[in-house]
Amino acid sequence: MKKVRKAVIPAAGRGLRFLPATKAQPKEMLPIVDKPAIQYIIEETLDSGIEDILIITGQNKCSIENHFDKSVELEIVLKEQGKLELLAEVQRIGQLADLYYVRQKEPLGLGHAVYCARQFIGNEPFAVLLGDDLVRGTTPCLKQLLDLYEKVQSTVIAVMEVPPEHVNRYGILDAVEESQGVYRVKDLVEKPPLESAPSRLAIMGRYIIEPRIFPILAETGPGAGGEIQLTDALRQLCREQAIYGLAFQGKRYDVGDKLGYLQATVEFALDRLDLAGGFREYLRSVCQELFKG
Ligand code: G1P
Repeated sequence: MKKVRKAVIPAAGRGLRFLPATKAQPKEMLPIVDKPAIQYIIEETLDSGIEDILIITGQNKCSIENHFDKSVELEIVLKEQGKLELLAEVQRIGQLADLYYVRQKEPLGLGHAVYCARQFIGNEPFAVLLGDDLVRGTTPCLKQLLDLYEKVQSTVIAVMEVPPEHVNRYGILDAVEESQGVYRVKDLVEKPPLESAPSRLAIMGRYIIEPRIFPILAETGPGAGGEIQLTDALRQLCREQAIYGLAFQGKRYDVGDKLGYLQATVEFALDRLDLAGGFREYLRSVCQELFKG
């Protein structure tokens, strides 16, 4: 029985969709309420039972490392000021997990970013979580994938049906539903035009992948957008091994997109006991103003 022990979080993208906010800070550090987006991803990984996490970074990404490091000076200040709750939170973040970092020296695409993890992963199945996709729900999305992996012992991808006008933003599956919410993948294509898309079943940013992907990635040339695409390598893998798609439970937000970011901010804030009361009142007054008459 193969077990998934390691996760990879690619965080080397340039965040062009979020300029100018991402001019001097990584998009992964943009806050959703009061936590950077990447912290939600790391907490999802830990809540799913994986503790060895590799973050693929690029230029301008030092603040990610600093965020998850111990901050001695800040801790002294918080202690002196008696802000013990904040102190506990800051200390908790510094001890969350054993994080490892490797730098993707050129932004050659998601496939290349994952390829940078090959030494860390070695010859075992591993999880990949993309920072633009946040999922809110009862069971962590990654845990749902791991549960299916335990049964099928083969590559598993999180999928979701998207509206026709969004098909060209995603990796799209050609697949057959084998059981409720579980698809057997026949083919995959990255960002197809709607006319030639095999379905509206889109890859969301969570994967469990077999290590055979690494030699395939080594041979994968540039694809959509001139980048080395993970989807193209998975397409090859699918000819050799079974790949499954899982329609996961939970609501997904594209926080790399401005509208998705705003939606996530509102809904994650409503989940927060310390904010929900006042925030709900505020939203009510905004809605009344918007929809009056
Ligand atoms: C990446 C993947 C794509 C997937 C998407 C999910 O695209 O290449 O297959 O559907 O993430 O968010 P990107 O958003 O990096 O363009």
